[in-house]
Amino acid sequence: MLIVNIASIQGIIPGEYDRLAGKDMEARCGELADAYLLVENGLISRFGPMSELAEADYASGEVFDAAGGMLLPSFCDSHTHIVYAGSRDGEFLDKINGLSYEEIARRGGGILNSADRLHETSEDELFRQAMERVGEMIAKGTGAMEIKSGYGLNTADELKMLRVIARIKEATPAAVKATFLGAHAVGREYAGRRGDYVDMLISEMLPAVAAEGLAEYVDVFCDEGFFTVEDTGRILEAAARYGIRPKIHANELANSGGVQVGIRHGALSVDHLERMEAAEIAALRESDTIPTMLPGASFFLGMPYGPARAAVEAGLPVALASDYNPGSSPSGDMRMVMALACIKMKLTPREALVATTLNGAAAMGLGSELGSIAVGKRASFIVTRPVPSLAFIPYAYTTPFIAAHFIGGRQV
Ligand code: NIG
Ligand code: FE
Repeated sequence: MLIVNIASIQGIIPGEYDRLAGKDMEARCGELADAYLLVENGLISRFGPMSELAEADYASGEVFDAAGGMLLPSFCDSHTHIVYAGSRDGEFLDKINGLSYEEIARRGGGILNSADRLHETSEDELFRQAMERVGEMIAKGTGAMEIKSGYGLNTADELKMLRVIARIKEATPAAVKATFLGAHAVGREYAGRRGDYVDMLISEMLPAVAAEGLAEYVDVFCDEGFFTVEDTGRILEAAARYGIRPKIHANELANSGGVQVGIRHGALSVDHLERMEAAEIAALRESDTIPTMLPGASFFLGMPYGPARAAVEAGLPVALASDYNPGSSPSGDMRMVMALACIKMKLTPREALVATTLNGAAAMGLGSELGSIAVGKRASFIVTRPVPSLAFIPYAYTTPFIAAHFIGGRQV
């Protein structure tokens, strides 16, 4: 497949970088005007200026005319909860009337509400609903995604969710990573017995998940009213015995200590970070852990936005993800995430692009295969309608911008 007449290729990053940090997010992310790009065997095999394209290059296969659109890497959404049953629009009015996320959860809404519905929903129906969301995300330019369990909250239902994720991996061309989030909330049968729930998670759920090879990563909602730093440490230690690395929810509702406990256990990423301060930034600087922020949750819940600008200034490889879930971010639109990053977090459009592509890929362990335009990387990219600049994409944040989306070299 040969893509011709590209007004500019964006997101060109030297192949040796599996992430970009700090100033490099702007400085090492290049562009090339008036370009072509050649795909072979699902990989980017060559790209360059149109003027260097030879007549013979056209003979090699199918030609796609970008017709003056831009080409940018597909979004890599490293934090989602898209396997859930139904929705939580029933809580929307409570929210409008002023109830907080925590208050809704305390009244039996929230995550436990989703767990009840998931319990009553068959695996096939869950798969069908989740695949609709996958299709919606792909249509909006996402080519790789992480999906968490965490609406089961008992062994059978957590396994049901993870099996759905395994089926999604087979069914979609997008890259998918699975994360076990049994510690999303304390399951109903363990109400008021958090310690016993954590014991059960470690002795029963985790071995079952590991035995079926259903999770690449483990997550804990380490936050006020959910799981403590001690619970988190125990779970991460147990997961490490199965070789399962953490990606954790930290500092959404309070400065929970979640960042530090994640780093201590070698977390691939720590996510949310709405309440991050200097100590967390300093700890992240000493680590390989990727700080991932989720501005869609800040938008929907009216929370502070994570300090992405300060984190970039501190030299960190900031990633951005959608957090697509029924309670705090009912949207998987990564272009909207880019827009919020620019408008609310003061990232530049280029930094926001790197944060939603290469750094998101890195937060799924895929930074050397996906997330940028480089020879040898998987050919997953968006061809846009003609747009005046990269900035136009987050600026005109509801104007349709995608003309075509390719995953692994195939148009989807
Ligand atoms: O990332 N914070 C915890 N988990 C999700 C919300 C889950 C839900 O409310 O269903 C989040 O925001
Ligand atoms: Fe989340």
